[in-house]
Amino acid sequence: MIFRQLFEPLSSTYTYLLGCEETGQAVLIDPVVTMVERDLAELQRLGLTLAWSVETHLHADHITAARELKLRTGSRIAAPAFDRLPCADLGIEEARPFDVGSIRLQPLHTPGHTDGHFAYRLDHRLFTGDALLIDGCGRTDFQNGDADALFRSVREKLFALPGETLVYPAHDYQGRHVSSVAQERSRNPRLGDDRTLEEFRAIMAALDLPYPKFIDYAVPGNRQCGVCPESVPEHLRQYCTQITQSPQG
Ligand SMILES: [Fe+2]
Repeated sequence: MIFRQLFEPLSSTYTYLLGCEETGQAVLIDPVVTMVERDLAELQRLGLTLAWSVETHLHADHITAARELKLRTGSRIAAPAFDRLPCADLGIEEARPFDVGSIRLQPLHTPGHTDGHFAYRLDHRLFTGDALLIDGCGRTDFQNGDADALFRSVREKLFALPGETLVYPAHDYQGRHVSSVAQERSRNPRLGDDRTLEEFRAIMAALDLPYPKFIDYAVPGNRQCGVCPESVPEHLRQYCTQITQSPQG
């Protein structure tokens, strides 16, 4: 399998490119609309055809590239069935494997950051979305977030996987790329093995994070699989503008 971890700097989002070497088909997990040109160039460079984009959840901090990629390449859109997006070609459900060529993603419903959130396991790799970040986790104060549900999702579903399973998060804000289930079990300051549910609740309640600056545009835009709302104000237009890279970039 061909595998690339791609980074979007504005929202510090990781997009994952998975390519089947036998069929030449590819999947992008959590592509970002600003990076469409980069992603298409990467697919072309690798000789892959984009078959699907797959979402871990309804993002609040960026606009998905799913719709733009579909318009540009004819790729299809897979998103959690839970969110009932009319624009999705396929609703992802727990325990129903998602196959693209020889790539098989095992969807794991992991509510808590959002109620419809999914993680995806691919053999020894685990794409954790915002349910589990390196030494952290996604916030639980919007989009039907629920600290108790996130605690259960991570401890009962993600930490139940073999310790050597590699953890690939949807974001990292400090330049880290990958972790493992064993490392997060032992070191995650919020969700590690020695934390109790009561402690986790208190940690999440005390975060006191600012209101997400793009959420009011991102969520409705992503409910349409990646439409930038007309109402996006000037100072946030960069979240909708595709980055065109220089030949060197
Ligand atoms: Fe998120």
